[in-house]
Amino acid sequence: MLVVENLTKRFGGNVAVDNASFTVDRPIMLGIIGRSGAGKSTFLFNLVPRMDVVSNVLHGTLNRRSTLATMFNLFPREDIHRAIDILDRLGIVQHAAKRAEALSGGQQQRVAIARALMQDPKVILADEPIASLDPMNAQIVMDALRRIHDEDGRMVIANLHTLDTARRYCDRVIGMRDGRIVFDGTPEQLTTGVARDIYGADETFSEEATSTEIRDHRAAPVRAATPA
Ligand SMILES: Nc1ncnc2c1ncn2[C@@H]1O[C@H](COP(=O)(O)OP(=O)(O)OP(=O)(O)O)[C@@H](O)[C@H]1O
Ligand SMILES: [Mg+2]
Repeated sequence: MLVVENLTKRFGGNVAVDNASFTVDRPIMLGIIGRSGAGKSTFLFNLVPRMDVVSNVLHGTLNRRSTLATMFNLFPREDIHRAIDILDRLGIVQHAAKRAEALSGGQQQRVAIARALMQDPKVILADEPIASLDPMNAQIVMDALRRIHDEDGRMVIANLHTLDTARRYCDRVIGMRDGRIVFDGTPEQLTTGVARDIYGADETFSEEATSTEIRDHRAAPVRAATPA
Protein backbone atom coordinates (compact mmCIF):
# COMPACT_ATOMS: atom_id res chain seq x y z
CA MET A 1 0.00 0.00 0.00
CA LEU A 2 2.81 2.38 0.82
CA VAL A 3 6.41 1.71 -0.15
CA VAL A 4 9.20 4.14 0.61
CA GLU A 5 12.59 3.18 -0.77
CA ASN A 6 15.86 4.88 0.04
CA LEU A 7 14.45 8.26 0.90
CA THR A 8 17.29 10.73 1.42
CA LYS A 9 16.93 14.44 2.05
CA ARG A 10 19.86 16.82 2.45
CA PHE A 11 19.97 20.41 3.55
CA GLY A 12 23.34 21.61 2.30
CA GLY A 13 25.87 19.22 3.78
CA ASN A 14 23.47 18.06 6.47
CA VAL A 15 21.72 14.75 5.78
CA ALA A 16 18.33 15.13 7.46
CA VAL A 17 16.93 11.80 6.23
CA ASP A 18 19.45 9.12 5.37
CA ASN A 19 18.40 6.30 3.07
CA ALA A 20 15.14 5.54 4.85
CA SER A 21 12.99 2.65 3.57
CA PHE A 22 9.82 1.08 4.82
CA THR A 23 6.79 -0.76 3.51
CA VAL A 24 3.27 -0.77 4.85
CA ASP A 25 0.90 -3.30 3.34
CA ARG A 26 -2.34 -2.25 5.00
CA PRO A 27 -3.70 0.98 6.47
CA ILE A 28 -2.21 0.97 9.94
CA MET A 29 -1.67 3.68 12.49
CA LEU A 30 2.06 4.36 12.39
CA GLY A 31 4.01 6.41 14.91
CA ILE A 32 7.40 8.01 14.26
CA ILE A 33 9.54 8.81 17.26
CA GLY A 34 13.03 10.12 17.81
CA ARG A 35 14.83 13.02 19.42
CA SER A 36 14.62 16.56 18.18
CA GLY A 37 16.47 16.91 14.87
CA ALA A 38 16.31 13.17 14.12
CA GLY A 39 14.54 13.91 10.83
CA LYS A 40 10.93 13.04 11.68
CA SER A 41 9.30 16.12 10.13
CA THR A 42 11.56 16.06 7.08
CA PHE A 43 10.68 12.40 6.59
CA LEU A 44 6.95 13.01 6.95
CA PHE A 45 6.81 15.98 4.60
CA ASN A 46 8.90 14.22 2.01
CA LEU A 47 6.43 11.35 1.94
CA VAL A 48 3.83 13.59 0.33
CA PRO A 49 5.20 13.89 -3.22
CA ARG A 50 6.16 10.23 -3.20
CA MET A 51 2.76 8.91 -2.32
CA ASP A 52 0.41 7.82 -5.00
CA VAL A 53 -2.27 7.42 -2.39
CA VAL A 54 -2.33 11.06 -1.62
CA SER A 55 -2.78 12.34 1.64
CA ASN A 56 -3.19 15.38 3.60
CA VAL A 57 -0.81 17.15 5.84
CA LEU A 58 -2.07 18.24 9.17
CA HIS A 59 -0.33 21.46 9.98
CA GLY A 60 -2.27 22.34 13.06
CA THR A 61 -2.16 25.95 12.00
CA LEU A 62 -5.24 27.74 10.84
CA ASN A 63 -5.96 30.98 9.14
CA ARG A 64 -7.93 33.66 10.90
CA ARG A 65 -11.31 32.85 9.42
CA SER A 66 -13.95 30.62 10.93
CA THR A 67 -14.08 26.99 9.91
CA LEU A 68 -17.55 27.34 8.51
CA ALA A 69 -16.66 30.42 6.46
CA THR A 70 -13.63 28.63 5.10
CA MET A 71 -15.63 25.55 4.24
CA PHE A 72 -18.34 27.62 2.55
CA ASN A 73 -15.71 29.10 0.31
CA LEU A 74 -13.80 25.93 -0.32
CA PHE A 75 -16.55 23.45 -0.93
CA PRO A 76 -19.75 23.19 -2.93
CA ARG A 77 -22.98 23.58 -1.02
CA GLU A 78 -23.73 19.88 -0.86
CA ASP A 79 -20.43 19.32 0.89
CA ILE A 80 -21.38 21.61 3.74
CA HIS A 81 -23.57 18.89 5.21
CA ARG A 82 -20.64 16.56 5.07
CA ALA A 83 -18.49 19.19 6.77
CA ILE A 84 -21.01 19.52 9.55
CA ASP A 85 -21.16 15.75 9.94
CA ILE A 86 -17.40 15.59 10.22
CA LEU A 87 -17.27 18.39 12.78
CA ASP A 88 -20.03 16.65 14.71
CA ARG A 89 -18.12 13.40 14.63
CA LEU A 90 -15.10 15.15 16.10
CA GLY A 91 -17.24 16.77 18.78
CA ILE A 92 -16.64 20.35 17.64
CA VAL A 93 -19.75 21.19 15.62
CA GLN A 94 -20.78 23.74 18.24
CA HIS A 95 -17.56 25.67 17.53
CA ALA A 96 -17.96 25.71 13.76
CA ALA A 97 -18.85 29.38 13.51
CA LYS A 98 -15.99 30.56 15.71
CA ARG A 99 -12.78 32.09 14.47
CA ALA A 100 -9.68 29.96 14.87
CA GLU A 101 -8.18 32.13 17.61
CA ALA A 102 -11.27 31.61 19.73
CA LEU A 103 -10.64 27.87 19.85
CA SER A 104 -8.44 26.02 22.30
CA GLY A 105 -5.40 24.14 21.00
CA GLY A 106 -7.23 20.83 21.20
CA GLN A 107 -10.24 22.21 19.32
CA GLN A 108 -7.95 23.69 16.66
CA GLN A 109 -6.30 20.33 16.16
CA ARG A 110 -9.69 18.70 15.70
CA VAL A 111 -10.63 21.38 13.16
CA ALA A 112 -7.38 20.60 11.33
CA ILE A 113 -8.33 16.92 11.31
CA ALA A 114 -11.82 17.85 10.05
CA ARG A 115 -10.29 19.82 7.20
CA ALA A 116 -8.08 16.93 6.28
CA LEU A 117 -11.09 14.60 6.31
CA MET A 118 -13.02 16.85 3.92
CA GLN A 119 -10.61 15.77 1.21
CA ASP A 120 -11.33 12.14 1.99
CA PRO A 121 -7.64 11.21 2.13
CA LYS A 122 -6.45 7.62 2.30
CA VAL A 123 -3.53 8.71 4.44
CA ILE A 124 -3.37 11.38 7.11
CA LEU A 125 0.04 12.72 8.04
CA ALA A 126 0.21 14.41 11.42
CA ASP A 127 3.33 16.20 12.60
CA GLU A 128 3.18 16.24 16.39
CA PRO A 129 -0.61 16.43 16.58
CA ILE A 130 -0.60 16.65 20.36
CA ALA A 131 2.40 18.87 21.01
CA SER A 132 1.43 21.59 23.48
CA LEU A 133 -1.88 19.99 24.42
CA ASP A 134 -2.80 19.11 27.98
CA PRO A 135 -3.22 15.38 28.75
CA MET A 136 -7.01 15.39 28.32
CA ASN A 137 -6.94 17.20 24.99
CA ALA A 138 -4.04 15.04 23.85
CA GLN A 139 -6.20 12.01 24.53
CA ILE A 140 -9.21 13.50 22.71
CA VAL A 141 -7.10 14.25 19.61
CA MET A 142 -5.36 10.86 19.62
CA ASP A 143 -8.70 9.10 20.15
CA ALA A 144 -10.09 11.04 17.18
CA LEU A 145 -7.19 9.96 14.96
CA ARG A 146 -7.52 6.38 16.11
CA ARG A 147 -11.27 6.38 15.46
CA ILE A 148 -10.74 7.77 11.97
CA HIS A 149 -8.33 4.94 11.38
CA ASP A 150 -10.59 2.25 12.85
CA GLU A 151 -13.89 3.41 11.36
CA ASP A 152 -12.79 4.69 7.95
CA GLY A 153 -9.78 2.45 7.35
CA ARG A 154 -7.54 5.46 6.74
CA MET A 155 -3.85 5.16 7.37
CA VAL A 156 -2.48 7.61 9.95
CA ILE A 157 1.20 8.47 10.21
CA ALA A 158 2.02 10.63 13.22
CA ASN A 159 5.25 12.07 14.56
CA LEU A 160 5.04 11.78 18.30
CA HIS A 161 7.19 12.96 21.15
CA THR A 162 5.71 10.81 23.89
CA LEU A 163 6.52 7.13 24.04
CA ASP A 164 3.43 6.13 25.93
CA THR A 165 1.26 7.72 23.23
CA ALA A 166 3.12 5.90 20.48
CA ARG A 167 2.74 2.62 22.34
CA ARG A 168 -0.88 3.05 23.21
CA TYR A 169 -2.25 4.28 19.88
CA CYS A 170 0.00 2.94 17.16
CA ASP A 171 0.07 -0.48 15.53
CA ARG A 172 3.65 0.03 14.50
CA VAL A 173 6.37 2.45 15.51
CA ILE A 174 9.37 3.71 13.56
CA GLY A 175 12.29 5.12 15.53
CA MET A 176 14.59 7.62 13.84
CA ARG A 177 18.05 8.65 14.89
CA ASP A 178 20.34 10.99 12.91
CA GLY A 179 18.14 10.65 9.83
CA ARG A 180 18.13 6.85 9.87
CA ILE A 181 15.39 4.41 10.73
CA VAL A 182 16.93 2.56 13.67
CA PHE A 183 13.78 0.80 14.88
CA ASP A 184 10.71 -0.51 13.10
CA GLY A 185 8.44 -2.71 15.16
CA THR A 186 5.41 -3.18 17.34
CA PRO A 187 4.71 -1.26 20.55
CA GLU A 188 5.60 -4.43 22.47
CA GLN A 189 9.04 -4.46 20.88
CA LEU A 190 9.59 -0.85 21.88
CA THR A 191 11.13 -1.60 25.25
CA THR A 192 12.81 0.97 27.44
CA GLY A 193 16.19 -0.31 26.23
CA VAL A 194 15.20 0.16 22.61
CA ALA A 195 13.84 3.63 23.41
CA ARG A 196 17.16 4.58 25.02
CA ASP A 197 18.88 3.54 21.82
CA ILE A 198 16.55 5.54 19.62
CA TYR A 199 16.97 8.65 21.74
CA GLY A 200 20.67 8.10 22.28
CA ALA A 201 20.09 8.26 26.00
CA ASP A 202 21.94 6.53 28.81
CA GLU A 203 20.48 4.54 31.68
CA THR A 204 19.52 7.71 33.56
CA PHE A 205 16.82 8.22 30.92
CA SER A 206 13.44 7.72 32.52
CA GLU A 207 10.18 7.45 30.62
CA GLU A 208 8.36 8.56 33.71
CA ALA A 209 9.95 11.97 33.47
CA THR A 210 8.20 12.86 30.21
CA SER A 211 5.10 10.71 30.44
CA THR A 212 1.80 12.51 29.88
CA GLU A 213 -0.14 9.55 31.12
CA ILE A 214 -2.44 9.98 34.09
CA ARG A 215 -2.00 6.81 36.06
CA ASP A 216 -3.57 5.62 39.23
CA HIS A 217 -0.81 6.74 41.54
CA ARG A 218 -1.71 6.12 45.14
CA ALA A 219 0.02 7.77 48.01
CA ALA A 220 2.94 5.66 49.19
CA PRO A 221 2.25 3.99 52.53
CA VAL A 222 3.85 5.85 55.38
CA ARG A 223 6.74 3.81 56.69
CA ALA A 224 7.87 3.83 60.26
CA ALA A 225 11.18 5.62 60.53
CA THR A 226 14.00 3.12 60.86
CA PRO A 227 16.81 4.02 63.20
CA ALA A 228 20.09 4.71 61.39
N1 LIG B 1 14.39 23.84 5.96
C1 LIG B 1 15.52 23.36 6.49
N2 LIG B 1 16.72 23.89 6.14
C2 LIG B 1 17.86 23.41 6.66
N3 LIG B 1 17.94 22.40 7.54
C3 LIG B 1 16.81 21.83 7.91
C4 LIG B 1 15.52 22.27 7.42
N4 LIG B 1 14.55 21.51 7.98
C5 LIG B 1 15.18 20.63 8.79
N5 LIG B 1 16.53 20.82 8.76
C6 LIG B 1 17.53 20.01 9.49
O1 LIG B 1 17.27 18.65 9.24
C7 LIG B 1 17.41 17.88 10.43
C8 LIG B 1 16.11 17.16 10.74
O2 LIG B 1 15.12 18.12 11.09
P1 LIG B 1 13.61 17.73 11.38
O3 LIG B 1 12.85 19.00 11.51
O4 LIG B 1 13.16 16.76 10.37
O5 LIG B 1 13.74 17.01 12.80
P2 LIG B 1 12.60 16.47 13.76
O6 LIG B 1 12.95 15.06 14.08
O7 LIG B 1 11.27 16.74 13.18
O8 LIG B 1 12.82 17.34 15.07
P3 LIG B 1 11.74 17.90 16.14
O9 LIG B 1 11.40 16.76 17.02
O10 LIG B 1 12.49 18.96 16.87
O11 LIG B 1 10.56 18.43 15.38
C9 LIG B 1 17.87 18.84 11.50
O12 LIG B 1 19.26 18.78 11.59
C10 LIG B 1 17.40 20.19 10.99
O13 LIG B 1 18.23 21.20 11.46
MG1 LIG C 1 9.67 17.89 13.75
